[in-house]
Amino acid sequence: MQKFRFLIVMLLVVLYGTSARAQSVLVFGGAGQLGAEVVRELTAHHFSVTVLVRPSSNRARLAGLPVSFVIGDVLREGDVERVLRSGTFKVVVDALGRSGANVDFYATAGRSIAYWSKVTGVQHIILHGSVGVGESRVAYPVSNYAVYKTLLQAKEAAEQALRQSGVPFTIIRNAVLHELNPGQMDLAHRVSDPSAWGVVSRRGLARLTRECINNSACQNKTFTAIDHGMR
Ligand SMILES: NC(=O)c1ccc[n+]([C@@H]2O[C@H](COP(=O)([O-])OP(=O)(O)OC[C@H]3O[C@@H](n4cnc5c(N)ncnc54)[C@H](OP(=O)(O)O)[C@@H]3O)[C@@H](O)[C@H]2O)c1
Repeated sequence: MQKFRFLIVMLLVVLYGTSARAQSVLVFGGAGQLGAEVVRELTAHHFSVTVLVRPSSNRARLAGLPVSFVIGDVLREGDVERVLRSGTFKVVVDALGRSGANVDFYATAGRSIAYWSKVTGVQHIILHGSVGVGESRVAYPVSNYAVYKTLLQAKEAAEQALRQSGVPFTIIRNAVLHELNPGQMDLAHRVSDPSAWGVVSRRGLARLTRECINNSACQNKTFTAIDHGMR
C-alpha cells in the first residue's frame, strides 16, 4: 500500500513538472510595444514567461510583471542558440521590431529563431508578421508596395524559414496597428482570407497570441488579425 502511495505521489510530481514546463513561453521582442502586450496577456493567464532583451533594452513596459529575462541579440545566431538552450520552452513568440536595423533584420532573426527552436524541441512558434507578405500581397495598397517591398520580402523570408523548419507554427499578420481608445472594446479576430485588410490593436494581437497557444485551430495556419471596431 505504501509503495502504491509512493508511486502515485511520484506520478503527480512528474505530471506537475510536465505541465509547468508545458506553459513555458519565450518572447523575442517582449520589451517592445507589441511584445510587452503579449507578455502582459500571457502572465495574466499564468504562463511562465521569459523575455529576451538586449543589455540596452528599456524594460519599463514590463515593470512589475512576473517574468524572467535572458540577455541576447537576435542578430547573433550564437545568442539565439544559447538562449533557446537555456530553458525548456514549449512556445516561442516572435514580436520583434527591427529598432532601426536594416530590413534584413527580419529574415536573419526569423531564420535563427526557426532553426534553433527546431533543434531545441520548441513545440510551437507564433510569428507576428505583416500583411503584404506572400499571398497577402493582394491586400497591400499598390502605391505603397514599392516603398516597403524589401521589408516585406525580408518578412516573407522569415515566414518561409518558419514554415520549412518543421516546428508547428502560427503566423498572425497585421496591416495597420492603432491603439484602442480608453474604454474601447477589443474585438480583434483572426481571418484566414489573405486579401483581408484592416486595423487591429496590439492589445488585440496579444489576446489572439495567447488564444493560439494549445489551440489546434491555429496549428500551421497563417492569419490576418483585424478589429472591425477600429478604423
Ligand atoms: N502595420 C503597422 O501599422 C505597424 C506599426 C508598427 C509596428 N508594426 C510591426 O509590429 C512588430 C512589432 O513592432 P513594435 O511596434 O512592437 O516594435 P518595438 O516597440 O520597436 O519593439 C521591438 C522589440 O524588438 C527588440 N529588438 C530589436 N532588435 C533586437 C535585437 N537585435 N535583438 C533583440 N531584440 C531586438 C527591441 O529591443 P530594443 O529595445 O533593444 O531595440 C524591442 O523590444 C514589427 O514587426 C513591426 O514591423 C506594424
